Amino acid sequence: MTAQTQNNGVRGSKLAGRVALVTGGTRGIGAAIARSLAEQGAEVAVGYGGDQARAEAFLGELRQQFPDGTFSAHQGNVAKAAEGRATIDAVVAEHGRLDILVNNAGITRDRTVLKMEDEDWDDVIQVNLSGTFYMAQAALKHMLERGTGRIVNVSSIIGEMGNFGQANYAASKSGLFGLTKTLAREAIFHLQRAGKLNDDSIGVTVNTVTPGYVNTEMVEAVPEKVLDKIKGNIPMARLAHPEEIARVVHFLCADKSSYITGQIWGVNGGMDM
Ligand SMILES: NC(=O)c1ccc[n+]([C@@H]2O[C@H](COP(=O)([O-])OP(=O)(O)OC[C@H]3O[C@@H](n4cnc5c(N)ncnc54)[C@H](OP(=O)(O)O)[C@@H]3O)[C@@H](O)[C@H]2O)c1
Repeated sequence: MTAQTQNNGVRGSKLAGRVALVTGGTRGIGAAIARSLAEQGAEVAVGYGGDQARAEAFLGELRQQFPDGTFSAHQGNVAKAAEGRATIDAVVAEHGRLDILVNNAGITRDRTVLKMEDEDWDDVIQVNLSGTFYMAQAALKHMLERGTGRIVNVSSIIGEMGNFGQANYAASKSGLFGLTKTLAREAIFHLQRAGKLNDDSIGVTVNTVTPGYVNTEMVEAVPEKVLDKIKGNIPMARLAHPEEIARVVHFLCADKSSYITGQIWGVNGGMDM
């Protein structure tokens, strides 16, 4: 955690009474998102793939930072439809509802197109794109019943620009743009048909954030020489702090962000100007 977010457990109220699930919420950007939603008063469930020790440690940190908060951790592979649905069900069973889903879990398997194995392609598409679909589909059903909800997907600037050695990752992340806009349209359609939309509705919105390069373990794998070159291409001349991505996510999750849907939010230090 950086100095930016150390607030001694003082909580805002923008998300009081809301229940949020953050996939891949136990480290990196997802952990910063979980913390920022908690800072705004939400109950937070964090999903993770396999690292239970990490999940428990992070849960302990959240409970220490926000002693009056309610938190839980849920293991499940988002790439498997049944496990994704079971995670949504478990969160609803434990917290009584689900208001916010942040699809943040993601992986990379970098190779140039000529060297890429079928498995590298399939794994990345399955976690980053199909996983987001499975989770969003299950959450949407629940949110439409209630008539309110927020889904935020975590894409990447690579989905907008492409990148050498990342055909699988870039395709999975740009796939999220079409998925986001379609989910957003269908959510409005279903709410309208059910008579659950009026001028003051909080509604069900679906948006995507596209971080640039963020200081996390995912980027630690990038060789220093390459990283220096990357920084040279960022107008802000530095990587993002995870909290700078989280800030946009919690803004989009607020009830008052009700007129923002189907949008792609760049948080990239000006990289795509
Ligand atoms: N870092 C960047 O510079 C950057 C830039 C743009 C976009 N992004 C995107 O931001 C998101 C988070 O990135 P990060 O750097 O914070 O990642 P990270 O540090 O590698 O953390 C990934 C998280 O996702 C979970 N996860 C991975 N595969 C999973 C699966 N199949 N099912 C369930 N959970 C799974 C991991 O759980 P375990 O700990 O159990 O493995 C972990 O909690 C990703 O979608 C990434 O593509 C990152």
